[in-house]
Amino acid sequence: MWMISLGLADGVAVAADRSTGREVFVQNCALCHVHGVAMAPRVDNQTEWEPRLSLGRQALLNAVLRGKGGMPPKGGNASISDEQAAAGLDYMLEAITGQTGQARVAKRR
Ligand code: HEC
Repeated sequence: MWMISLGLADGVAVAADRSTGREVFVQNCALCHVHGVAMAPRVDNQTEWEPRLSLGRQALLNAVLRGKGGMPPKGGNASISDEQAAAGLDYMLEAITGQTGQARVAKRR
């Protein structure tokens, strides 16, 4: 599997059992959603997410699977499964709602 290098490796230990969602996020979503590329809502910006979170997880998942606006289906990687895309979404939602510090870790660069 190919990987977009975002320089995340230094100092970040990836726990094997949590790795799927995080890996999907880092490899397929972080590019746009950490820095707000193509006007993507940023993971550390609650204001940008509030109206979207109220749509509910299923609607957000549909947007990820089918694409929406500047976001291609599955973030542009057709080779990931629906389940992997969902794991990436869940990882992202966790980060957005502040339940982990991982998004901030990802932003360190
Ligand atoms: C090429 C840049 C790009 C990539 C890669 C990308 N997104 Fe997005 N994403 C966007 C943009 C732009 C929007 C805003 C779309 C809009 O509302 O018009 C968006 C919106 C979203 C939304 C909100 C959808 C809604 O209905 O409001 C979610 C959830 C989301 N992305 C999750 C993901 C996940 C999960 C991944 C990785 C699998 C990902 N994105 C990869 C650019 C990207």
